[in-house]
This record gives sequence, structure tokens and C-alpha cells, in this order.
Amino acid sequence: MFPFVSLLTTLLLALSIAALPVEVRDSPITLPIARKLNLKDSTINLLQHDQARAAALKDPDTSSLSRRAGSIPVINEVVSYIAQVSVGSPATTYNLIVDTGSSNTWVGAGTKYVKTSTSQSTGQAVSVSYGSGSFSGTEYTDTVTLGSGLTITKQSIGVASRSTGFSGVDGILGIGPLDLTEGTLTNAPTTTIPTVTQNLYTQGIISEVVVGVSFEPTTSQKVTNGELTFGGTDSTKYTGTIAYVPLTTTTPASYYWGINESITYGTKTILSETAGIVDTGTTLILLASNAYSAYQSATGATLDRTTGLLRITTTQYNALQNLNFNVGSNTYALTPNGQIWPRSLNTYIGGTSSYIYLVVNNLGSPSGQGLDFINGYTFLERFYSVFDTTNSRVGFATTSYTGATTN
Ligand SMILES: *[C@@H]1O[C@H](CO)[C@@H](O)[C@H](O)[C@H]1NC(C)=O
Repeated sequence: MFPFVSLLTTLLLALSIAALPVEVRDSPITLPIARKLNLKDSTINLLQHDQARAAALKDPDTSSLSRRAGSIPVINEVVSYIAQVSVGSPATTYNLIVDTGSSNTWVGAGTKYVKTSTSQSTGQAVSVSYGSGSFSGTEYTDTVTLGSGLTITKQSIGVASRSTGFSGVDGILGIGPLDLTEGTLTNAPTTTIPTVTQNLYTQGIISEVVVGVSFEPTTSQKVTNGELTFGGTDSTKYTGTIAYVPLTTTTPASYYWGINESITYGTKTILSETAGIVDTGTTLILLASNAYSAYQSATGATLDRTTGLLRITTTQYNALQNLNFNVGSNTYALTPNGQIWPRSLNTYIGGTSSYIYLVVNNLGSPSGQGLDFINGYTFLERFYSVFDTTNSRVGFATTSYTGATTN
């Protein structure tokens, strides 16, 4: 090889290596997820559930034990993203809520746990309270299969003997930070339980503790239009590049997937840079009450008593400006259409079909408390998100749905 070529090769290699660390490798390990509107109970109120979850997440009692054991968040029962996870051999398939805000994986709420030759009880009692729901039971280890053939052996899973607040689903696939499992084993309060993501890494199936999440806006009541990618990201699900920011150091946001961001409506700042979280278990975008008020007055929206959501007229909708989420040096612009609830689903949340409801609502407390916003999945349906434990960071990218007008 000519020295010139080799130098060039070395240079190019060095350049691409220098450019690479910001991207995790693409991974073929993907799991489809379905969005489900739970309409069994017409008294379910979308906003109440989101606010109850937010209150649990923000619980001022942050002594680690009681926080972790007692106030891990409420699971939204109105809209859920569901992954099918198989357990045992031969396997039984369970429909589990994908939750970035909690980290225990458990089954048995609906479909009962079916023990097979791979099921082993650890004999340890486990319980998690989610605020308005809970489960308790016994921790097992078992073979867990994700998607088509991604198999984890001896995965620790909770088997519910009792659960409340989970209808139409079988449990949770917890993809939050590992530390959230601390305090959930009754007799081992300082022990953490290796999460599914952690075991995929430990067992050499993935090379980085990373989960990529793709949601898409939808106007149908039930549709499989999401995807979880373990160990990397799926470049077919986003456009441009993924930009990362370090996890926030501010508590309590730092217990979850917490980041710093500021928010502007058009050019008006409605929330100065502060800490909050990214959460698949919250449907709406919840802002500290002062930011929420600023948003309401900037949009001219009125409070709809029936749904608790903000409502705007067609004229106000036509005048709506982008809601900009400034994260690190990037701005993620939620378009006017991205700020409204899908109109075809208005009646499912107790609304009127001809009204226009906004998905931005009130966190219920003023800013400055260490968890001042929740970017729920009305945000995540417009931006690809990456939850990266290995590098302690969260990433976002635009998608082909960022500017969709489906709502
Ligand atoms: C986030 O904001 C807090 C409070 O302003 C600050 O201390 C911290 O350095 C910021 N960045 C990170 C990554 O936490």
C-alpha cells in the first residue's frame, strides 16, 4: 500500500471515528409496540391520570426508600403503548405497558403467569406502588423473549399475585433507570433488580445499554405503530442525526430520564431552562403551572371543564405558533398540529368531536421544584428518542412525522 493511501485511510478512519461517538450503532433488535386507547371505563379522565402520575413522580418525600418503594408513578390507563413479551419455554405472551418511568418488569395482571421448566421462584416478595395502581407478588427468574427471538435467560420478573389499576394489560416492561428497582424487593431494600435492558447487555446480546423509542401520531384507537430498539437506534425511524444531552443532575428529575430544557411559544419564553423528564407513561405534555398559564394566555385557549384540557377555536388554531423545546443546542419545534389532540379521538376522552383540544396541560405546581415539565408521548410521537444509560444521556431526532398534520 502506498504510504499516501495509508495516511489518507488513517486520516479518514480518524475522522469517522471522531464523528462516530455521537451515534450509537444501529441495531437489528427491535420490538413493535402498539398504541392502545383504553375505553372500557368512561369515567377515566386523561388529564387526571397524567396529573396523578406527575404528582407521584414529584413526590416531595425523596428519601430514596420511600420514594422508590412508595411513589413510583401512576401508569396512564387511558392511552398506553404495549409491547408483546414472551416468558417461559414454551412461552406465554404477555401484553406489557412500555414504561420509561419505572424499571420493574412484571406480568400477571391480566393473563396469569404460566410456569414452565425455565421458571424459577426466587422466593422474594416484590411490590411496586404506582400511585393509583400497584402490584405485589413474587420475583421469579425466567426466559424472556422480546420480538422475534431475542432471548434473555434468567431474567428477573415480578409475578403478580395481586394488582390494582391495570385493566386490559398484563403488566409492565420497565425501561427506566436501574436504580428505580431499589426498594421493590421487600426483604432486600437496597438491592436493585437487573432490568431487561441491563441483562441484554450483561448477556452480550447488545453492546450498549441503550433503548431507542419510535412512536408515531395516529388517529386510530388501536394501532401498532411504535418500535423499541434495544442496544442502539433504528435509522429508518428518524431523519437527520440524533442530538444528545447529558442527563440532568437536578432531583427529582434525575431519578428518571431527566434533562434540562427551556420552552418557547413562537419567540416568547414560557419556561426558562430547568429540569424535567421524558416519559412514555404520560400522554400529555405537562408544564409547571406558570409556564402553562403563559401558554394558555399566548394561545388564548380556554379551559374545557369536561375534559380538563385547554380548548381553542378554529381561528386560534390557525394562528397557533410552534411550541419550541430547546434542549442543549437544538430546538425541537412542536407544530400547531402537534399541539392538538387528534380530533377523530375527541369523543374517546370525553370531548366533543367538533372541538379542538390542546395536549399541553398543567403539571400542577410552579417551576423551580426540580421536575418542571414532562415531555410525554404527544411529544415523543413527533420526535425519536434515545435513552442511553451507557453514556448517561438522552437523544432526540426529528422524524418523518414531526410535521405531520394527522391530528
Ligand atoms: C441542568 O440545570 C441545573 C440547574 O440549573 C444545573 O445545575 C446543571 O448543571 C444543568 N445541567 C445538567 C446536565 O444537569
